[in-house]
Amino acid sequence: MAKGTGMTKVLAIGIGVLTVSSVCALVMMAVMYKIQIDKYPPVSPPPPIKPTVIPTGLPPTLRLPDNLIPERYEVFIQPYLYAAITNNYTNQSFAFTGQSTVKVQCMTASRSIFLHAQNLNVTTLEVRKSGSNEKLSVSGYKIHHDESHFLEIQLKDTMTVNGTYDIVTKFEGELFDGLDGFYVNRYTEKVKAEEEEDEDQERFLATSLLKPTNARKVFPCFDEPALKAVFRITIIHKPGTFALSNEKGGPHQTEIDGEEWIVTTFKETPIMSTYSLAFTISDFDFKTRSSGTNINIHARGDAINAGHVDHALEVTEKILVHYQKEFGSTYPLSKIDQIALPDLSVGAMENWGFISYQESGLLYDKHTASTFDRERVATLIAHELALQWFGNLVTMRWWNDLWLNEGLATYMSYIGVEADGWDIRDLIVLRETQTAFQVDSLNSSHPLSLQENYIQTFSQITELFDDITYSKGAAVLRMLATFMNEDAFMKGIKMYLAKFEYKNTVYKDLLKCLQEETKVDVEGFMSTWIEQVGYPVVTIITQTGETSQEHFLLKQTQGHGIAWQVDIRYNKAGDDTVKSYMLEKNGPVRQPHFLLQDKDVWLLANVNCTGFFRVNYDEENWNKLRIQLERNHHVIPIINRGQLIDDAFNIARAHRLNVTIALGLTKYLVNDTEYIPWESALKNLDHLILMFDRSEVYGPITKYIRNLITQLYDRFEEYTINGTIPEKHTDQYNQVNAISVACSNGLTKCIKMARSQFEDYKNGSNHIHPNLRKEIYCNAIATGDEYDWEFAWKEYQRATVPAEKDKLRYALSCTKEIWLLNRYLQYTLDPSKIRKMDMVSTISYIAKNVAGQPLAWDFVRGHWSYFTQENGAGAMTLGSLLDAVTKRFSTDVELEELKQLQREQEEKNQGLAARALEQVIERTEANIQWVKENKQIVKDWFTGEL
Ligand SMILES: *[C@@H]1O[C@H](CO)[C@@H](O)[C@H](O)[C@H]1NC(C)=O
Ligand SMILES: *[C@@H]1O[C@H](CO)[C@@H](O)[C@H](O)[C@H]1NC(C)=O
Ligand SMILES: *[C@@H]1O[C@H](CO)[C@@H](O)[C@H](O)[C@H]1NC(C)=O
Ligand SMILES: *[C@@H]1O[C@H](CO)[C@@H](O)[C@H](O)[C@H]1NC(C)=O
Ligand SMILES: *[C@@H]1O[C@H](CO)[C@@H](O)[C@H](O)[C@H]1NC(C)=O
Repeated sequence: MAKGTGMTKVLAIGIGVLTVSSVCALVMMAVMYKIQIDKYPPVSPPPPIKPTVIPTGLPPTLRLPDNLIPERYEVFIQPYLYAAITNNYTNQSFAFTGQSTVKVQCMTASRSIFLHAQNLNVTTLEVRKSGSNEKLSVSGYKIHHDESHFLEIQLKDTMTVNGTYDIVTKFEGELFDGLDGFYVNRYTEKVKAEEEEDEDQERFLATSLLKPTNARKVFPCFDEPALKAVFRITIIHKPGTFALSNEKGGPHQTEIDGEEWIVTTFKETPIMSTYSLAFTISDFDFKTRSSGTNINIHARGDAINAGHVDHALEVTEKILVHYQKEFGSTYPLSKIDQIALPDLSVGAMENWGFISYQESGLLYDKHTASTFDRERVATLIAHELALQWFGNLVTMRWWNDLWLNEGLATYMSYIGVEADGWDIRDLIVLRETQTAFQVDSLNSSHPLSLQENYIQTFSQITELFDDITYSKGAAVLRMLATFMNEDAFMKGIKMYLAKFEYKNTVYKDLLKCLQEETKVDVEGFMSTWIEQVGYPVVTIITQTGETSQEHFLLKQTQGHGIAWQVDIRYNKAGDDTVKSYMLEKNGPVRQPHFLLQDKDVWLLANVNCTGFFRVNYDEENWNKLRIQLERNHHVIPIINRGQLIDDAFNIARAHRLNVTIALGLTKYLVNDTEYIPWESALKNLDHLILMFDRSEVYGPITKYIRNLITQLYDRFEEYTINGTIPEKHTDQYNQVNAISVACSNGLTKCIKMARSQFEDYKNGSNHIHPNLRKEIYCNAIATGDEYDWEFAWKEYQRATVPAEKDKLRYALSCTKEIWLLNRYLQYTLDPSKIRKMDMVSTISYIAKNVAGQPLAWDFVRGHWSYFTQENGAGAMTLGSLLDAVTKRFSTDVELEELKQLQREQEEKNQGLAARALEQVIERTEANIQWVKENKQIVKDWFTGEL
């Protein structure tokens, strides 16, 4: 299909048969006006409205005025899309028409109406007094083609206080080729042909992704999360398709102007926000399960027949039951539909009652899926189901408090997956706390909750879907739950849901509910963590007991002079009891408990890393901790073994600790087999590799890592060779780590193993355990040739299970051949090779490869306008793309290139990913300085260890 905008995308609108608007009019007459005509005698049609000129220019704010409150919408949408083109006479069209009637209540007398509409052509517009046929005279209307997306209507008549009015619009729109709004997915389905071979046939479906501000692309509406209303949706669609929306639908066939159509009318929704609406028209199949609530999963017929949704059905039921108990709140809709979409730019979207997922997030094939794929399905479902409460039932008032939804849902997902047997609560430290620590150590980070008026434009809103909102949100909630104790926390959560159901909240509403359950000062404790950017590093000098805090920044600048309420949980050698000390905001203190007199006693602060801060000690205490790790690491909790390493490396990155102390902490790992400490160390060693893998320091580093990993590799070698896996979940993670690190650092037996297993695969027998495929494929291709790559590419194209496809897609990025990497980059521009939703992650994989890094960066720069403009879904992922392709940046040249890009952006006045760009520039500056100061020390240390 041709790229571009406008109606060029319409392949063939039924020429001479119907025009878009005539069908619209007819259908509306058939379906809707009939009801009205019964009620009111027909009146003569109004004279056509000519749009009049309204002064242009941005209104003072991008927010809607508060003179009108929407109560209820009646929406008809009619997409002209067929799911399949069965013969040459099928006129496939990527257009839709519709009609919306929204009943509003007038709060202040006025003659102007503002609502949202974007990329829609409004063909008819009327304003009536509700419950009568009395029309208000419209003097003009206009869609603002600027950031406001306002549909402005000016009236001659005045709307009076407490009056209710119906705003009726008819409109036309297009089904986009991008990945947001109302858009098309293309995919292929195997079809039984008469002759032996099954045939691939092209299929189409239309679906929606309306979060955060895309509902306005489907119908004119008051598209702000606090403007909740009731929605009654009707979809009119072609025979052979099936329509889904938030509530239950009842389809019936009807004839409109000699054409068969299906009219599906959905039950009225509860009062809800526009962003959580959803519509899909497809010829998907589905499976059902009922346990009080009807749970349906929709997917390609192939996937349903192969049983790939069975697992998700079971998991959904378990987690749903679990949450209703944990939250003390019944799921309020009549059903939960979930759908596995071939194209979705985000992992999943929590539309109320109708959740959409990427296929790999929902489909599960036990023959090719790894444990991690299974865990991902559970985690995603747990996240999306949590959002049915924290988001759909209780919604943040405005996007500035997005963390209230996403942070809570992230935190709850660790509880939710327990219903499916996953005990991964401790991993929250690796996945959320440590992740958030990274971006929050930059000046260009942002507070969890910003002021409402700072968040106005589309890019300001989309930039909030980041690690701060999700991961820091979850980490800080975990800290609070520990501070006030978990039972009290969950009780407060229940109260919050009960008190604010169907309403909107700001974060203080949550804190007030939690306060009811505890004597500790919740708001006093939390306000510093929520309203301030960043987090502290607490420094404890154990010779004096002196304890202080400072804003932790990778790149020291003036600092903001801010301080936090820090709840320090600590213990000492020989004393298992954990004590707690509150470090107040004012200056350094001498804390006698932190004063160590005994030479052998160490102090460990932030036990289990429940606090969102780092801890630095005097060198002596660091050394005592290291010696303890080397003598008997079991004395120190697993989470802290990881955290000590992560803290030390990052504090060293911030020039507050000699990097040799951090490096010294890794030596004990030869004796540790636990995943959390290993993963923490590998992440940080990985950063060292990124800084030095283009320099002479790399040789000694890679030798050291090879020695360090050998023991872990050997521990799992028998499993690996036999194509099996250890029983413990975290051991399974470490088995993968062992292979990945051993092979990539040149451990010969690892590479041999990978090559031999891949050879067998090429010869037709793939006995590599699914858990290990990603890394074994990758390392075989990294050490292989063009033919290995071509083989994997063929396999990628042939694979139908998304989880297997993803493993191959990753592995293809591992080749060291520049020309193959360049070709692979080019493939990301061709959706028939790499699906659009996979573009960003594929480029990111390539950038991770030292050979691919400069290619990926040049590619991103070269296609910058493609990423920022044409690829609509890019906005959400642009930040992570920038982050990925610049991770290695540590030279002045690279910094200059980034600044150049920033200047170009500013010249073009593009705010997209502005913060992400600021962040990677700051990170690069910090890296440059750090590498300058530490290169020799690092080199000496690693050389000394050999
Ligand atoms: C449809 O069009 C294709 C290509 O133009 C042609 O090969 C085929 O015979 C046509 N099929 C029918 C049923 O007319
Ligand atoms: C509007 O309704 C409110 C609540 O019913 C009432 O207090 C107020 O007086 C009404 N205002 C007008 C102008 O009718
Ligand atoms: C809207 O109207 C313009 C001008 O008539 C036309 O070019 C465009 O294709 C229309 N768009 C849609 C989505 O109908
Ligand atoms: C620290 O975490 C471990 C593992 O989850 C747990 O067993 C232990 O009780 C925790 N310690 C404290 C003091 O909470
Ligand atoms: C860091 O430690 C190493 C080895 O102990 C030493 O050579 C180096 O001078 C120290 N660097 C600083 C800045 O103290």
